[in-house]
Amino acid sequence: MPEFIPLISELEINKQIQKIGQQISRDYKGKDLILVGVLKGSFVFLADLTRQISIDHDIDFVGASSYEGTSSTGQIVFTKQPDLEFENRDILLVEDIVDTGNTLLKIIEFIKLLNPRSIKICTLIDKHERREVKINVDYSCFSLGEGFIVGFGLDYNEKYRNLPAIYDLKL
Ligand code: IMP
Ligand code: MG
Repeated sequence: MPEFIPLISELEINKQIQKIGQQISRDYKGKDLILVGVLKGSFVFLADLTRQISIDHDIDFVGASSYEGTSSTGQIVFTKQPDLEFENRDILLVEDIVDTGNTLLKIIEFIKLLNPRSIKICTLIDKHERREVKINVDYSCFSLGEGFIVGFGLDYNEKYRNLPAIYDLKL
């Protein structure tokens, strides 16, 4: 039986998202913000974050799935392209978790080709100790070390995204 060890409570998550939402509202005042959720894990975080941002902004999604190629960097396939025009707009990529950073790096490279005015990163969880590539995370709600976590959009084999808080999963 898998064991779920409580790690971050609903209350703590809500407080952090409110704080980050206020910060984004200040930083993007007078800009042309699009929140771009990276499917699928970011959907819960994005739903809460958008409601904590008080300035006008658009929402879009990109889908990417990674697979191991022959090279160590791996490769990603885009499963969902953006719907909106990104040219000259301020893109804030919203991730559930930045782990090695390989997936996000590829997404950033792709989005750069669409000529946005700016690209920044917002993540619910930053697993910075496991980073393999250089990525500047601009907004992060929580920093964690090792371990596999689920809940609040984060899955294990597509399950447990529905859990309202974040748990350490022990299989
Ligand atoms: P990476 O940064 O390219 O290594 O991959 C990040 C992706 O791996 C995230 O967007 C998640 O979908 C998944 N992932 C990494 N660590 C965890 C975890 O602890 N729980 C659930 N998913 C994770
Ligand atoms: Mg993900």
